[in-house]
Amino acid sequence: MDVSRFPKLTVAERVQMLIEQGIITAEEGSTLLGSGGALGLDKANAMIENVIGVLELPVGLGIHFLINGEERLIPMSVEEPSIVASASHIARIIRKAGGFEADSTAPVMIAQLQVLGAPEPEQAKEALLRRKEELLAAANALQPNLQKRGGGAIDVEVRVLPDDRPGLDARYKALLVVHLLVDCRDAMGANLLNTMAEGIAPLIEEVTGGRVLLRILSNLADRRLARARVRIPADILAFKSYTGERVVDGVVEASRFAELDPYRAATHNKGIMNAVDAVCLATGNDWRAQEAGAHAYAAQGGQYGPLARWTKDSSGALVGEIKLPVQIGTVGAQIQAHPVVRILHKILDVKNAADLGQILACAGLGQNLGALKALSTEGIQAGHMSRHARAVAATAGVPPERVEDVAELLIASREIKVWKAQEILAQLLEQDKVKV
Ligand code: MEV
Repeated sequence: MDVSRFPKLTVAERVQMLIEQGIITAEEGSTLLGSGGALGLDKANAMIENVIGVLELPVGLGIHFLINGEERLIPMSVEEPSIVASASHIARIIRKAGGFEADSTAPVMIAQLQVLGAPEPEQAKEALLRRKEELLAAANALQPNLQKRGGGAIDVEVRVLPDDRPGLDARYKALLVVHLLVDCRDAMGANLLNTMAEGIAPLIEEVTGGRVLLRILSNLADRRLARARVRIPADILAFKSYTGERVVDGVVEASRFAELDPYRAATHNKGIMNAVDAVCLATGNDWRAQEAGAHAYAAQGGQYGPLARWTKDSSGALVGEIKLPVQIGTVGAQIQAHPVVRILHKILDVKNAADLGQILACAGLGQNLGALKALSTEGIQAGHMSRHARAVAATAGVPPERVEDVAELLIASREIKVWKAQEILAQLLEQDKVKV
């Protein structure tokens, strides 16, 4: 297949090419061409390159969330069963305890400039700091609208990082890293920061006598944090045969496990990101930036640790806190471009990026509690399996009125597979015929 032609073809031509090459069937080609959904193939084709279709994901609403005294409906887009249900279930428990409290720092992101070969790195650092105002003015001149919106470049920091690779020329034995701190208000910030970093690079070279190589924002957004906190009296957490005290103690021990062991912390944080990514995706945000930032932040103390921690206060209540670097925006082309994302912003009724960051933190904290509560009591498989079985039954083409029956039999069979669901459905239909 001559893939070099691919970028210049239309979507239909690309699909046709795949059919002609025998990579997909004509029927599969039709499925791809019919996959535009609300976005539409034309818009998708304008968003990225070499488009051959649109991959749709479900959007569910996280319900029962009370954040800073306000009711919120939280759109979440994700393929994994249980996430939306668990978030909503926990939000209902937390609401009984007064809801989530959340706040955030100013929306400050960092642009990095890598300066190589500065002859005197320490002197270059001092010189850069002396000319800070000039650097900030140069950066702000590149984004005047940002200053009008109350943001802009606000500070410069410089680090000298020793490089001990053998055989380096003396002037390369230290890397000079310049950080431009930018308050990016309601933008995610990548474009703003990258433009500023590229724009001030010549001035930095002039001041340092070095050569600027990389000019790019850092995804370790440790100056742009959202925080959320909950306090839940033990009795609210009791369920089935588990007392509230038992649940509190289980969650606290589970949290401690993540504090002590990076292997557990990775899974603990994965559970948090289940919700954070789902909200990022539903709101048109770059969930890879969010992921990278969250994990880098979790490792900042030297050992990878949990983003959310749970303790018991003197009255026996469960207290949970999360601090999350957030790299999200509520303005920008990526949000305007997708018609469904625009509707989801309306449902979320998001005020600004700080508000959205706080929602991410609350959703992540709630999701974490849902996982720890289940894991430290009956285990996650009970709830997970029934939802998984329903999803498998639906994928197998089981009609909605038979999904519950098939799901139950799938769990009993211990073979939660599409073929098994089809087999069970055939048996049920056979039994129906016999009854008639
Ligand atoms: C699964 O998607 C997420 C969990 O593994 C999170 C956790 O273990 O805390 C359940």
